[in-house]
Amino acid sequence: MRKLGMRASQVLIAVAVVVVGMVAAWLIGLNFAVMAVLVAVVLVGAAGLQLIRRGSGERSGGTARFVLHVVAAAAVTFAIIQVIPAGRDHPNPTVTGEPEWADPRARDLMVSACFGCHSNEVQWPAYSNVAPLSWAISEHVDEGRAAVNYSEFDRPQEEAEETLEVLLEQSMPPDYYTRFGLHSEANLSERQLADLIMWVRATPGLSDTEDGEDTEDGEDDSEGD
Ligand code: HEC
Repeated sequence: MRKLGMRASQVLIAVAVVVVGMVAAWLIGLNFAVMAVLVAVVLVGAAGLQLIRRGSGERSGGTARFVLHVVAAAAVTFAIIQVIPAGRDHPNPTVTGEPEWADPRARDLMVSACFGCHSNEVQWPAYSNVAPLSWAISEHVDEGRAAVNYSEFDRPQEEAEETLEVLLEQSMPPDYYTRFGLHSEANLSERQLADLIMWVRATPGLSDTEDGEDTEDGEDDSEGD
């Protein structure tokens, strides 16, 4: 440690960088392993800058200089990752089939809240071209489509039956989707959610048929209002 000229304050700064990186990853829904690599690159870069400074005969500056080196290394890392092509391809394959929506308004609400990841009609925002956001977003869409693709209902979509459940639990859309005021259209009001749940129950394939709630139209529902 002495050899590297590491001081307690520098270790603390390094730890802070790790924490900030991980919180940022959580906020934007970026894979933690990917963020760990980015943080490592930044810290190695900053340590390298420290060594260069020392090599050129200067005193291994204080805390402020280390912070400066971390910022410089972060800026260079950010610039370099823009060259990596991953995440910049934004395909929207052909729509081959959709659920038989019980009501067109159900589709509208699903488009607002869910089609950003579970369809072939994804609206890619401008920032989806900027790494590492681009990596996070394309992963969400890839995984979302792999779980359920409401645009490819011509083929079996096993997990589609969990649509009702995720709405009841309010576990979708994921929290990161509506952070920072983004995708406000995906924040359904209580009324919209209640309506959507009603229509989803009545749309084939979107709820577990064992519940027996999405079968016949003429079912005697005691909740009628
Ligand atoms: C930001 C992207 C995104 C949005 C928007 C989104 N989902 Fe998802 N969804 C995912 C991802 C990623 C998965 C798979 C991994 C997981 O479960 O978190 C998933 C999984 C699912 C599953 C499979 C079951 C499960 O819980 O894993 C269902 C059903 C689902 N989503 C329904 C919906 C519905 C309904 C909406 C709208 C109310 C919605 N999703 C909005 C990304 C999204």
